[in-house]
Amino acid sequence: MQRQVETPVGDVLLRPQKLEDVKYIEAYLFDSDPNFLESIGFKKGVFTDRDSFRSRIEDRIKNTSEGELPVMMMAEFQGRAISHTWLEMGEETSNAHFHIYESGLRGKGLGEILFKNALEILMDAHGVRRVIIEPKATNQRMIRLMEKCGFENQGTSIYENPQVGELEAIRFVFEK
Ligand SMILES: CC(C)(COP(=O)(O)OP(=O)(O)OC[C@H]1O[C@@H](n2cnc3c(N)ncnc32)[C@H](O)[C@@H]1OP(=O)(O)O)[C@@H](O)C(=O)NCCC(=O)NCCS
Repeated sequence: MQRQVETPVGDVLLRPQKLEDVKYIEAYLFDSDPNFLESIGFKKGVFTDRDSFRSRIEDRIKNTSEGELPVMMMAEFQGRAISHTWLEMGEETSNAHFHIYESGLRGKGLGEILFKNALEILMDAHGVRRVIIEPKATNQRMIRLMEKCGFENQGTSIYENPQVGELEAIRFVFEK
């Protein structure tokens, strides 16, 4: 389950998540500007307990049994993790999440290449046929990316979970 892709900044390796990746996800969620995190839908102050976040993610990776298919694909560029695509498995529909960690790597056209390829790998591996992604209604870049990736815009919805609270989102659906 890995694939090398060409991007505008150079070759990137898409591969399943490993323990070494945790520090990059942690830095993204705990060190990014809180206003940026809020602009993409996270509730302010939701990422405060860094140690428990780290051990939760590390435990999840360690407890993934051998042969179990990964649900999180990382993008590795020049030896570091720069992005993840996570497929949160559901019965009929799975929820996708996609982030590019470094501000200097956003807005360069990586999103379309990384997300399309990582999602394809995950959907094929798990036999998933229907994926939903619900970006905040003001997250224009993600909304444009969804359109470019062939997702269907099903209009405004209210998205809710403990990390975001309740937010106005656009529901995008992709069916294979
Ligand atoms: C959203 C994100 C994944 C997009 O990936 P990216 O590589 O930065 O995006 P791209 O460079 O491929 O650009 C996406 C499109 O949005 C357009 N865009 C950028 N800013 C925009 C804006 N403010 N308004 C409208 N469109 C905008 C770009 O022009 C591009 O469209 P085009 O190719 O037709 O010109 C990335 O910016 C990111 O990780 N953001 C933070 C995390 C996030 O928001 N995740 C989604 C949570 S649901």
